[in-house]
Amino acid sequence: MNTVIKNISSASYLACANCGKTYNIQQRQTFATCCNQPLFTYYNISNYSKEELIQQPKNLWRYAAMLPLFYQDNIVSLEEGFTPMHILHKTQLKYAVNKMYVKDEGTNPTGSFKARGLSVAISKAKELGITHCIIPTAGNAGGAMSAYCTKAGLKATVVMPKLSAQLIKDEVQLYGGELIEVNGFIQDCGKIVQKIAADTGAFDMSTMKEPYRLEGKKTLGYEIAEQLNWQLPDVIVYPTGGGTGLIGMWKAFEELKNLKWLISNKKPKMVIVQIKNCNPMIQMIKNGKKDADFKPSYSIANGLVVPTPFAEKSILEVITESNGTGIDVSESDITQSIQEMARTEGLLLSPEGAAAFAGFKKLVEKKWIEEHESVCIINTGSWFKYH
Ligand SMILES: Cc1ncc(COP(=O)(O)O)c(C=O)c1O
Ligand SMILES: [Zn+2]
Repeated sequence: MNTVIKNISSASYLACANCGKTYNIQQRQTFATCCNQPLFTYYNISNYSKEELIQQPKNLWRYAAMLPLFYQDNIVSLEEGFTPMHILHKTQLKYAVNKMYVKDEGTNPTGSFKARGLSVAISKAKELGITHCIIPTAGNAGGAMSAYCTKAGLKATVVMPKLSAQLIKDEVQLYGGELIEVNGFIQDCGKIVQKIAADTGAFDMSTMKEPYRLEGKKTLGYEIAEQLNWQLPDVIVYPTGGGTGLIGMWKAFEELKNLKWLISNKKPKMVIVQIKNCNPMIQMIKNGKKDADFKPSYSIANGLVVPTPFAEKSILEVITESNGTGIDVSESDITQSIQEMARTEGLLLSPEGAAAFAGFKKLVEKKWIEEHESVCIINTGSWFKYH
């Protein structure tokens, strides 16, 4: 790896996503207890030129100046990020859109985009002297956390639904993580995590309940911009569970605007795709509240089975601010979309990525996505992890 990494960090303070109350970035923080909302990291940078990126490593740490780590020695990296951006010539023709891209996160270490968030969060945990991390997960985040904890020399405890893919459970244990299986969904795992964390002092890495997984995920937005020569697509379609990638990309676009790195300041319309078996955010977008009889059920896209996202409010803000929307898809839409992408473009999507592709097709059909628009769908993981 090329280790130039200049400008290690311009991170300045943390602030509540709701009221803006500031929190000290030099200390361990979780979420904004003032409003029970996530904490966002703010940077103080004036003279950072994108030309400096040329010499930086081809992984997400190339954006270290806009990441929260203060000391280069604390970086825990398995070469995450800088994933391929495929242009899909046949698909863009078939669905009559201007440009169609897939950002392929399946090539990340541990086979999903969770590596981004956990590389940054575990690096920061190391920097803050944390020795034991615990996480509730649908699967992939647990695999990623175990790998990065091992690399960093920290203890990992992973609490996962029994119904998650066996391969991901095996992965956690192979990396030396402690695995606890739960009869239920991610929110049931979350309750167990809170109890173990209170009993043992383990640091809770739950989605959006600590500030730095978001910072890792935002690099997805930096890369999309850089790989498209600083011209953002018109639409981004993201398969949403807890929403970290969505909120992270939106944060990245705001930062890029402030850095004056974008050719045009027009930001993409952000689309969230959920599954019919667990679609709380789609219900919120449609009706302003969740259905009274909402009951989640299992999906092959198990990363999307998140019935109560902690960052619900921030997810809805991104949709509103970006003039975006949300759509849900069925299990058969997902399997059909995996086959279609494999046969037309030679790409295997994870079920979650295939959900995004299925959502895209529905929005083209509804004419919500139009012919002149460029679209990027996020394939958040590798198909090979689900078998
Ligand atoms: C492959 C995959 N895609 C999407 C998601 C949803 O990500 P987020 O919770 O950040 O919205 C997950 C989460 O587990 C996942 O593993
Ligand atoms: Zn607050």
